[in-house]
Amino acid sequence: MWAAGLDEVNGQLKIMQVPVPVPGKGEVLVKMAAAPVNPSDMARIKNVSEVSSRAGFIAGIEGSGTVVDCGSGLIPRLWLGKRVACSSSVSSGGSWAEYMVTKAMSCVPLTANISDEQGSMMLVNPLTALAFIDIARYEGHKAIVSTAAASSLGRMITLLAAKYKIPVIQVVRSVKQQNLLTSQGAQYVLNSSDTDFTTRLGEVSRQLNATLVLDAVGGELTKKLLISTPFGSKHLIYGNLSTEQPQLDHRVLVDAEKTVAGFYLVNWLKKQGLLSTLRSIIKARKMLAGEYTIPISARYPLSQVQQAVDSYLGNMTAGKVILVFNNDAGIT
Ligand SMILES: NC(=O)c1ccc[n+]([C@@H]2O[C@H](COP(=O)([O-])OP(=O)(O)OC[C@H]3O[C@@H](n4cnc5c(N)ncnc54)[C@H](OP(=O)(O)O)[C@@H]3O)[C@@H](O)[C@H]2O)c1
Repeated sequence: MWAAGLDEVNGQLKIMQVPVPVPGKGEVLVKMAAAPVNPSDMARIKNVSEVSSRAGFIAGIEGSGTVVDCGSGLIPRLWLGKRVACSSSVSSGGSWAEYMVTKAMSCVPLTANISDEQGSMMLVNPLTALAFIDIARYEGHKAIVSTAAASSLGRMITLLAAKYKIPVIQVVRSVKQQNLLTSQGAQYVLNSSDTDFTTRLGEVSRQLNATLVLDAVGGELTKKLLISTPFGSKHLIYGNLSTEQPQLDHRVLVDAEKTVAGFYLVNWLKKQGLLSTLRSIIKARKMLAGEYTIPISARYPLSQVQQAVDSYLGNMTAGKVILVFNNDAGIT
């Protein structure tokens, strides 16, 4: 089969021909239909290219496809022949390949009303957005500060929060993004590049009592957020789009009793347990079949994986770039 990955020291992303993997106990073989390019894919590719264990690394964290073979176990057999959303296992290859072996427990059957493309994006962003809204509701936060708010996840957080009447202060980094969100009806949009950003954020976050801060950016923005938000705010760091270490301010942390914590979806789901995870998955499926569909800016065959990545990095706000796997990988 064809797959996109790294196969040499400091290797570039490349198309490789590798054997179709064989599912073991508790695993399934998925014939891939679609897979998105996500920030976490970029981070994983960068990390792998910096360590020595890159041989045979296949990129891609999530996707969708049809289960065409399975190892032993009840769940793998149940999924055989089903269209599924799936995420890759750390131990086996990724979703940017014609076939992927993964744990049956990392697959969720798709209903007929969800396309392969929307289904390919079901397991990362929708579940994360649902987790953040649960945190806001159960911890009693009156409003949220959301960074990278024009991202797919950021927009989903705002839509979901509106359902629970939780106001969101949307932080973006450009006038273009500010205009985009305002044209879509956003009420509180702040541009972190403005000179009066911290003052404005201080005013609005105190007015709304926005004590939950969702930080996908890190670097200097983390410090600006910490300085501006109300006493006792909780800052969740869940991404590192700036690729810079989050800056902290010890005086603000101590005097205003603010907390900074990390958030990683996989760990959050483990803590919630199976029943709660199933409930979230059912909600995520409904979201993608209805009013929460994720905008897609471009589609590429696997043979053009580098163009897909370049197109995504060139304009992340435009929507998701999807790798589509038809009957062949577009490789001649
Ligand atoms: N921790 C977890 O479990 C978890 C789970 C899901 C997602 N995430 C994180 O959530 C974030 C959003 O993911 P997504 O898939 O929704 O992203 P996306 O749709 O691909 O969009 C990325 C957005 O981030 C903006 N951005 C890029 N670099 C930035 C920077 N240095 N400062 C400010 N904004 C920047 C982009 O704006 P431009 O168009 O201007 O570049 C774009 O609007 C990512 O950091 C991802 O890793 C974390």
